Amino acid sequence: MSDEIKGISQTSAVANLCCNDLSNPLGVETTRPLLSWTMQSAERGACQTAYRVLVASSPEKLGRDEGDLWDSGKIESDRSTHVQYLGAPLKSRQAASWKIMVWDKDGTPSLWSEQARWEMGLLRKSDWKGYWINAGRYGGDPSPAPMLRTSFMLKQRVTGGRAYICGLGYYELYINGKRVGDEVLAPAFSRYDKTAYYQTWDVTNLLQVGENAIGVILGNGWYNAFTAEVWDFKQAPWRSQPKLKCQFHLNLEDGKERIIASGPEWKFTTGPIVFDGLRNGEVYDARLEKHGWCMPGYDDREWKSVEIIAAAGGALHSQQHTPIRVTATLKPASMKEVRPGVWVFDLGQNIAGWAQLRVSGAAGTEVTLRYAEKILENGDIDQSNINPFIKSGECQTDKYILKGYGEELWEPRFCYHGFQWIQLSGYPGTPTLDSISGRVVHTDFETRGEFSCSKEVLNSIQRCARWSTLGNYHGIPTDCPHREKNGWTGDASLSAEQVLLNFAPETAYRKWMRDFRDCQRDSGQLPGIVPTGGWGFNWGSGPAWDSAFILIPWYLYLYRGDLSVLSENYERIKLYVDYMTSMAVGNIVDFGLGDWCVPHEPSPERTCAAKITDTAYYYVDSLILAQMAELLCKTADAKKYRALAGRIRKSFWKHFVDLKTGQVAGARSQTALACALYQGLVDGDDATKVLATLVAEVEAQKRHHDCGILGCKYLLNCLSDYGRGDLAYAIASQTDYPSWGEWVMRGATTLWEDFKGATSRNHHMFSDISAWFYRALAGIKPDIRAPGFKNVIIQPNVVGDLTWVKAWHRSPYGRIESEWKTKGNEIHLRVVIPPNSCGEIHVPTRDASSVLIDGHAAAEGSGVRILPSDSLGQPVFAIEAGTYLFQCVAKL
Ligand code: BGC
Repeated sequence: MSDEIKGISQTSAVANLCCNDLSNPLGVETTRPLLSWTMQSAERGACQTAYRVLVASSPEKLGRDEGDLWDSGKIESDRSTHVQYLGAPLKSRQAASWKIMVWDKDGTPSLWSEQARWEMGLLRKSDWKGYWINAGRYGGDPSPAPMLRTSFMLKQRVTGGRAYICGLGYYELYINGKRVGDEVLAPAFSRYDKTAYYQTWDVTNLLQVGENAIGVILGNGWYNAFTAEVWDFKQAPWRSQPKLKCQFHLNLEDGKERIIASGPEWKFTTGPIVFDGLRNGEVYDARLEKHGWCMPGYDDREWKSVEIIAAAGGALHSQQHTPIRVTATLKPASMKEVRPGVWVFDLGQNIAGWAQLRVSGAAGTEVTLRYAEKILENGDIDQSNINPFIKSGECQTDKYILKGYGEELWEPRFCYHGFQWIQLSGYPGTPTLDSISGRVVHTDFETRGEFSCSKEVLNSIQRCARWSTLGNYHGIPTDCPHREKNGWTGDASLSAEQVLLNFAPETAYRKWMRDFRDCQRDSGQLPGIVPTGGWGFNWGSGPAWDSAFILIPWYLYLYRGDLSVLSENYERIKLYVDYMTSMAVGNIVDFGLGDWCVPHEPSPERTCAAKITDTAYYYVDSLILAQMAELLCKTADAKKYRALAGRIRKSFWKHFVDLKTGQVAGARSQTALACALYQGLVDGDDATKVLATLVAEVEAQKRHHDCGILGCKYLLNCLSDYGRGDLAYAIASQTDYPSWGEWVMRGATTLWEDFKGATSRNHHMFSDISAWFYRALAGIKPDIRAPGFKNVIIQPNVVGDLTWVKAWHRSPYGRIESEWKTKGNEIHLRVVIPPNSCGEIHVPTRDASSVLIDGHAAAEGSGVRILPSDSLGQPVFAIEAGTYLFQCVAKL
């Protein structure tokens, strides 16, 4: 035994095994899944020099080191992310167990990792045995939520049971009285006539010998969005009555398989959910509950037979992204009776989700819950900022009708709302703070980073950004959780870097990119909201919004090192860039929206024309496309789009840049100036001139920004990139109008849609400031030369009255940390670079001789190399993985 252990690294181990960025996924669709892991080691310079993957058809075989599906052998490589499975072909429902071993820099192998697994989904159309079924003829009007059921006998124990299910718009699945899974609002919203998602569940432990019952409740969701509103989802081509397709594969003790599938023998009825409209709310009459309806032995003779109906139209794909869950329950901070019998509860936090009601009273009592994110002076709710686009039915209103016995606990299932305040009326008796709680509902992203600093207002902005991000992710990134719930592309593109630093959105983004492909017209044109039912091509889109389709895959590559997302979308991205070319006149594009929600009254002098931001995106998109082409070895394309980018740049110059005045488009617009700098349209001395004009404009506004959503992102980033982090910090930490801090002063718990606060109070489109906290203040930046944080750039700005900053981010290699504090004239910077990656540290001083590393004068050796100083004159060090303390005297 001890002999075997000899030669095994005691300092490194492997963990976090992921398949397609998910831990132990079921329903995998890709026949060459991508495997990732992280090396665990605190040792300085820890890195992987080789790996070996073993994949087996059973955990037992894997336990015996039999890689009957794949034994990669020892591969000399430092790659530990997105390694393609290259083993035996994988069949539908095939299970795979895998483990990994790595060799460290001395060539010493680690122990085998713990086992992980994945399981394939239904890969062929013919695997589907179930029919699409629903509850009879469709009249077009919303009907009560159908409940469907079937039952069957089992003579043997089930050794493995899987449910494959797609219930549109939303479904809840029950087996023998138990709810399957803890997800809500599933499956994900998609362009259902192109793609609908099924989910896979392990139901082994829910089945029993004897009679078994399966029950499903269906909600309307986006599939049957019947509410009249301005985005025309009522006219969506997919729109129809809720429907279900499912099948259950049961492996029995004798080795045989039994399939139970949706079909004509299923029955349906309706029950307590008498109304559910995603944009209106839900009405639940508890008197209509059907006791035991999804239990064996239930008498369903009164139920009707289902009908077999046409499919939703799209291909069925397996849902492989982070699901929506109830992630927290909030107790209200206060309550107030605003009129006799009408109470308003304040959650103290603007959230997306719903309320849970606790009530007892007489049967038939109707309790109403209305949700809002603003209140009137008298404390009553104010829905006026969120209801103008809802043209039929109520807005964010749930109703519960009591069954009349015991304490009744209820919450809606098939809709969600955006709110901080809940108005309660019709309540029998006097409610207490326990009568209502707030259920926080969103895509359940893992937290992947945190930022804090000595300036409290920035910490509040950071908290608001996180809440707005979560409140706006429900399978897709939305603009706001109340008024619209739409997948506005521009909003998501602007916030994506922040989302990638704070959370783990990659599987959700990857899915959203499929929605883009499903919505794109043959001409290449994209709508402003994705998914769309057809609305949004002629208003609300344009390069600044549509670029989400180029930038988000690119950010996934930059921050996560995922190349596959580029190849998956490449042809469609190219189609979009070609579409812009078809719209360009002399390389200038001018269509769709420009800077949005600016804080000043529109004036020609201070407004940035859309053609400036449009053409800049056209340039950046072409350049990114060229880089994608290079990465994917499409040499001719790379050449073509690089040349295109060059032509656009020249035209931009000719039309907009005036070097005599340092102005862009002759306007005093911060957005226009910052756009030219941020998008790389000027450089060298020219950039210095434009920067000087920009700085003068910011000073003229007393160090406030004067930008909408586009300009705000450009402005903070370009100022810190060009050495004016101090000015960016001044803008970011303002607390009077217009600023993020002013929202906080006015009690914001989320980011708002506009600086006045007149419209939505839960938008994330101004949230890139959170990314700026990480990138500019903590200084954590990805490096396009070594994407996915294979090389971590740490380039902090020690600015203003900040005395300390702390941030961490979990990269594909592990946890990066950057924290600094000032000590008199000294700066102490502590950084952690995870194993198998390296760092490039820009020490915030111009006095290179003052730099100490781990208490010693900076010198080469022990994992450190000295690099040429950066464009700001700061000393730069290349470091290996590990923890380092840099000290220096403050920059002069
Ligand atoms: C949405 C925005 C969106 C904008 C675009 C608004 O209604 O809420 O967030 O980006 O329209 O036009």
